[in-house]
Amino acid sequence: MSKVLRSVVTGVGGYLPDRIVTNDELSKTVDTSDEWIRERTGIHQRHQAADGTPVSDLAVEAAKMALAAAGRTPQDVDFIVVATTTPDLTFPAVATIVQRKLGCPVGVAFDVQAVCSGFVYALSVADGFVARNRARCALVIGAETMTRLMDWTDRGTCVLFGDGAGAVVLEPVEGEGAISDRGLLGFALRADGTKQDLLYVDGGVSTNRQTGYLRMQGNQVFRHAVVNISEAVRAAAADAGIAVDSADWFIPHQANQRILQGVAHRLGIDEAKVISTVAEHANTSAASIPLALHQGVQDGRIKPGQLLLMEAMGGGLTWGACVLRL
Ligand code: UT7
Repeated sequence: MSKVLRSVVTGVGGYLPDRIVTNDELSKTVDTSDEWIRERTGIHQRHQAADGTPVSDLAVEAAKMALAAAGRTPQDVDFIVVATTTPDLTFPAVATIVQRKLGCPVGVAFDVQAVCSGFVYALSVADGFVARNRARCALVIGAETMTRLMDWTDRGTCVLFGDGAGAVVLEPVEGEGAISDRGLLGFALRADGTKQDLLYVDGGVSTNRQTGYLRMQGNQVFRHAVVNISEAVRAAAADAGIAVDSADWFIPHQANQRILQGVAHRLGIDEAKVISTVAEHANTSAASIPLALHQGVQDGRIKPGQLLLMEAMGGGLTWGACVLRL
């Protein structure tokens, strides 16, 4: 086998704001119930960033933790990509704000906008730099304050989302060109703009100069999710040259426990291999995969050398999957 450069995850971090909003608390102001939310989504609670806390603060905390886990300092970072739908400002990118707050040297920094699929998209973009030796120490961050996009009178959406951030450090490491290599091994990214009306925000800079609110036809999105995600996972596994059932862990985007189970069932993945954080975190959009990865690493379930399958679907519609050996 010829030697190839791989983008290897050398550190993982996660951050959730202190404030926890339970279903019961929400049901005091929204026409819903703990029972409905648990049964239909698996969500028990969500974290909410304090007023005045921008998403970059969440991203910075997750990034610090990932850098410490990798044994790196902000001085080492030459590339930052932030996947987010809820930036501090329309511009500059959250990534450059993170760069400033961390005190990183001049390097590459920009955001990726693919909503809930953002982290998978951002990993593939970062892989394009790291695996070509154009970045030596890359921060890939998913960070969101989705609660700021909620219409609190719309019970069909406002109970589903939460705030948080997750981050990984990616570094180039020579591999053998084999599936035993550590690093990112395969991707499948998809988008279908004709499905925009199923999930979008009804405001924007060049439309009405408003931030807008998240709008979703939940049951339609649900229908597409299981089918689309399953196809992308199979395609990413084929791209990596692995069998889906050879993965040690399945780390899905955390939108709904029923979607997690539906996809796992369709792909023949043992539910014991599924990392689920949806009960505690709710849907944190681009932050949900790195937060789930962080949780699995922190509690000792996910270990170095293991094979991970990650997938997501969100507004656009966008969706995708990737294969990573930790
Ligand atoms: O991360 C981006 C991707 N997003 C997703 O993957 C979300 C995908 N969709 C879903 O997770 C589910 O479709 C939801 C959780 C959003 C909704 O569950 P559902 O089983 O598809 O319910 P539904 O939308 O078909 O609504 C069923 C009923 C409706 O009442 P009627 O018309 O049958 O009387 C809704 O009004 O449930 C009602 N409902 C609620 N009731 C209590 C909707 N939201 C609530 C609520 N509390 N929060």
